[in-house]
Amino acid sequence: MKRFLLVLLAVIAVAIAGLMYHVNTNFNRSVDDQYPIPDITVEVDSAKIAHGKYLALGPAHCAHCHSPIESLPDVEMGKEVDMTGGFVFELPIGTLHSPNITSDVETGIGGYSDGQLYRMLRHNVRHDGRICLELMPFFSMSEYDVESIIAFLRSLKPVKQARPDHEYNLLGKVVRTFALKASEPTSEPPAFVERDSTIEYGRYLSEAVANCRGCHTNRDLKTGAFIGEPYAGGMVFEDASTQYWRYVTPNITPDPETGIMSNWSETQFIERMRGGRVHVTSPMPWGPFSRLDDTDLKALYRFLQTVKPIKQDNTPHVTAPAEKS
Ligand code: HEC
Ligand code: HEC
Repeated sequence: MKRFLLVLLAVIAVAIAGLMYHVNTNFNRSVDDQYPIPDITVEVDSAKIAHGKYLALGPAHCAHCHSPIESLPDVEMGKEVDMTGGFVFELPIGTLHSPNITSDVETGIGGYSDGQLYRMLRHNVRHDGRICLELMPFFSMSEYDVESIIAFLRSLKPVKQARPDHEYNLLGKVVRTFALKASEPTSEPPAFVERDSTIEYGRYLSEAVANCRGCHTNRDLKTGAFIGEPYAGGMVFEDASTQYWRYVTPNITPDPETGIMSNWSETQFIERMRGGRVHVTSPMPWGPFSRLDDTDLKALYRFLQTVKPIKQDNTPHVTAPAEKS
C-alpha cells in the first residue's frame, strides 16, 4: 500500500512537472503557422491618413491605451500625444504593458510590415506571432478603416521609448496556454462601411470600432469571453487592493427599469457623450468619445434603441476606495 502511494505521488509529481514545462514553453508560442503574415501593401493617401486619425483619436481610442497614464489628461482633452505605450493593466492574469506604436524602428512599430499591423488588427496576433488578450476588438473593421489606421500609424513621428514586456502569473500562463485563441471577424469584413447616422453604422461603431459592447457586457476577466447579455453591462473593473475605485458597467439596453439611458432622448444622449467624464478614474474613454460628431452619436443612439431590453441592475456602478472593505 505504502509503495503504491509512493508510486502514485511520483506519477503526480512527474505529471505536474510535465505540465509546468508545457505551460512555460507554450504560453508565448507563436501562431505564425495558423496566421501567416499577409503579404499586403497599404496604399497611403491623405484621405486615408485623415480618416485613420479620426478613428484612432476618436471612436477607436488608440491613444487612451497606448500612452502612459500621465498623458491621460492630455488624451482626454484631445491633444495629440505620442503613442509611446506604457499604460499598465493590472489584470487577474498578470501585468500587461501597452507597446509603443509610434514609427520608431527599434522600440515602436516602424520595423513591422503592413501585413504584421493588418494581422494585429484583424486577429489580435502581435508582430512576433504571440496571441493578445482581446483588448483591441477591431477584427470586424472594414478593410478601408483598417488600411486608414495603418496609414495613420505610418504618419506618426518616431519616438524612441522602450516598454517592458508583460509579466504573466501562473494563472495567466495557464490561460494563455490552454484557452487563449486568436480572434476572428464575426463575419466577412466589409470593404467599406458608409459613415451615416443609421442603425447599421451605429452597430458597426459599437461592435467593430468603439467597443461599447465589449465593456457594456459582462465578461470572464480571465479569458475575455462574453458571459452576459449584450449591452446589459455588469463587467467589473477592479483592482485587488482597496486603494482603487471599483467600476461596474451600466446596463445600456432600453429596459425601462434598469437601462441607464432608457429615458434619454437622442439630444440628451449626445449631450451626455459630449459632456465627458464625471468620474475621474472611470475606464470609459470619455475624452475620445466626446469628440465624436453628431453623425456618429446619432448612429450609436439609434442602434442602442434597437438592442434587446434586459432587466439587470448593476448598481452601484461606482465605488470609492473608502467604501470598499
Ligand atoms: C483597451 C486598450 C487598447 C486599445 C483601445 C488599443 N490598444 Fe493596441 N494594444 C493594447 C495592449 C495591452 C497591447 C499588447 C497586447 C498583448 O500583447 O496582449 C496592444 C498591442 C498593439 C499592437 C501590437 C504591436 C506588436 O508588437 O505587434 C499594435 C500595432 C496596436 N496595439 C495598435 C493599436 C491601434 C492602432 C489602436 C487603435 C485603433 C489600438 N492599438 C487600441 C491596448 C490597446
Ligand atoms: C473601457 C470600457 C468602456 C467602454 C469602451 C465604453 N464604456 Fe460606457 N461606461 C464604462 C463604465 C465603467 C461606466 C460607468 C462609469 C462612468 O459613468 O464613467 C460607463 C458609463 C456609460 C454610460 C452612463 C453614463 C452616465 O452618465 O451615467 C453610458 C451612457 C455609456 N457608458 C455608453 C457607452 C457607449 C455608447 C460606448 C461606446 C461608444 C461606451 N459606453 C464604451 C465603460 C466603458
